[in-house]
Amino acid sequence: MQRAERFPGASVLLLLLLLAARVVTAFEPISVGIAIGAVSALTGYLSYKDVYCRFAECCREEQPLNASALKLDLEEKLFGQHVATEVILKALTGFRNNKSPKKPLTLSLHGWAGTGKNFVSQIVAENLHRKGLKSNFVHLFVSTLHFPHEQKIKLYQDQLQKWIRGNVSACANSVFIFDEMDKLHPGIIDAIKPFLDYYEQVDGVSYRKAIFIFLSNAGGDLITKTALDFWRAGRKREDIQLKDLEPVLSVGVFNNKHSGLWHSGLIDRNLIDYFIPFLPLEYRHVKMCVRAEMKARGSAVDEDVVTRVADEMTFFPKDEKIYSDKGCKTVQSRLDFH
Ligand SMILES: Nc1ncnc2c1ncn2[C@@H]1O[C@H](COP(=O)(O)OP(=O)(O)OP(=O)(O)O)[C@@H](O)[C@H]1O
Ligand SMILES: *[C@@H]1O[C@H](CO)[C@@H](O)[C@H](O)[C@H]1NC(C)=O
Ligand SMILES: *[C@@H]1O[C@H](CO)[C@@H](O)[C@H](O)[C@H]1NC(C)=O
Ligand SMILES: [Mg+2]
Repeated sequence: MQRAERFPGASVLLLLLLLAARVVTAFEPISVGIAIGAVSALTGYLSYKDVYCRFAECCREEQPLNASALKLDLEEKLFGQHVATEVILKALTGFRNNKSPKKPLTLSLHGWAGTGKNFVSQIVAENLHRKGLKSNFVHLFVSTLHFPHEQKIKLYQDQLQKWIRGNVSACANSVFIFDEMDKLHPGIIDAIKPFLDYYEQVDGVSYRKAIFIFLSNAGGDLITKTALDFWRAGRKREDIQLKDLEPVLSVGVFNNKHSGLWHSGLIDRNLIDYFIPFLPLEYRHVKMCVRAEMKARGSAVDEDVVTRVADEMTFFPKDEKIYSDKGCKTVQSRLDFH
């Protein structure tokens, strides 16, 4: 109960409950517990836990994922990533509907700069835990920020193991996001490898309901090459399927010294459940990003400005100029000038 006092809404409710209990005890010796039950029922709540979880954040392991909400979110907000959308949806619903998964879910997101990897992890986090990246059960680690010094690897390894153990003990379906995997020392990934494996428990803690998401640019060139091949062959972008990309990706990433997963054993032990490719974004997707940003700022969509901002972006390859160099990344700051 004490924990509820940290939240203003909850403390008001608590006060009411206590007052109610007082009034009741004035007439007959009835326990505070029953009073709380009565008031909860009166206010339409089912249990104390429900009341508490309205105000505070709870780790609700039993709560199923709302797959249609996630689908809607991805389809409305994420542009030009039909492969990623499909795979993420399938992976997450499958995992969350499985009552006893054999290992934690591990997703590895790959792609060119500004194609939506962080954006997607934010959407996923919000669908798993109401407060998204601000949730106590979602942890974002940025290599260059959290693990910058090569000589401190040992410290980082111990720290990370302690954190993951502590956080998963507190909430089994915690989410861990590792950004900038390409700049991560492989030793760090080795430190978390035992948690990703098919163990029932490690030192009394089960990691099987946790979710690990890795983000990197590794393999972005291979994905772009495949997309370009499709384009040059006159085939539609939407015809690109996971099977066209996944083999290239896992081999390419494995052999890429700067992928963070390089010879880490995660790949040859099949500990990564899904490699998720993010396609390079085209001119029309950049325009969609500009429109979305304008709407988010509450202003009317002005097609002249949309075109001007999109035209300011640079595109590659040199001859065809199909894909945006920075994806949608600088759209927001560019929009400030218009
Ligand atoms: N596919 C997309 N659909 C909609 N918006 C996008 C998409 N890609 C990028 N954006 C927009 O651009 C911003 C930057 O993208 P994001 O940070 O997700 O890129 P990233 O893939 O993580 O790039 P990097 O590899 O450089 O870190 C996002 O906040 C989002 O607003
Ligand atoms: C799931 O999400 C959809 C779309 O946001 C919503 O209409 C529906 O009520 C949600 N279902 C549950 C069980 O929360
Ligand atoms: C959970 O992880 C965070 C880092 O995101 C860390 O600061 C915190 O100490 C961890 N909690 C426990 C109980 O280990
Ligand atoms: Mg990013």
